[in-house]
Amino acid sequence: MKNKRESPASDGTTAQPRFHQRAAEIQAYGTVNHLLPLELEETVRLEMTAQLNQLLADTMTLRDLYKKSHWQVAGPTFYQLHLLFDKHFDEQVELVDSIAERIQLLGGVSIAMAHDVAEMTRIERPPRGREAIPVQLSRLLDAHQVIIGQVRKLARRAGELGDDGTTDLVVSEILRRNELQAWFLSEHLVDAPLVHAEPVHAK
Ligand SMILES: [Fe+2]
Repeated sequence: MKNKRESPASDGTTAQPRFHQRAAEIQAYGTVNHLLPLELEETVRLEMTAQLNQLLADTMTLRDLYKKSHWQVAGPTFYQLHLLFDKHFDEQVELVDSIAERIQLLGGVSIAMAHDVAEMTRIERPPRGREAIPVQLSRLLDAHQVIIGQVRKLARRAGELGDDGTTDLVVSEILRRNELQAWFLSEHLVDAPLVHAEPVHAK
């Protein structure tokens, strides 16, 4: 007996969506497409995409550390830091997209999912619970330091290999933004008086 729930056309097409599909990957992680009109050798693109994926994993981790800090911050400066952490989060979201799309543009495959990021990142894992502001700031600054150190090396290597687009991205966008954010955080760790200035004693 014919199945009445479906009425395929004579050529086999049907309006029924095909759910739960799986198939082999169309490109493996860690590979690059062979032929692209970029005037960059495959070996160069392999090395650059590998390094950019490390930078991506660390940047995604820093991005999420900012959101954790935004949610969990406590204390008299709650409002100011709550807003600052979210501003930096938004900026890191943009950097994540720029790095990931650079990897795809070079013919590679971007790391994407949280469990893969967790395996790759070199940024220290924070506890699930809440931490005091000085610890939050210190963790964020340590993460910036990891990224800034890598970016400087990556920029030099990209320059050596002739990948000027990657050099430009990592210096103009990634390095400059991370340096600026690190400055904004660092100034919060200066033990400057809020109410009582130290009096200057006459000699
Ligand atoms: Fe929020």
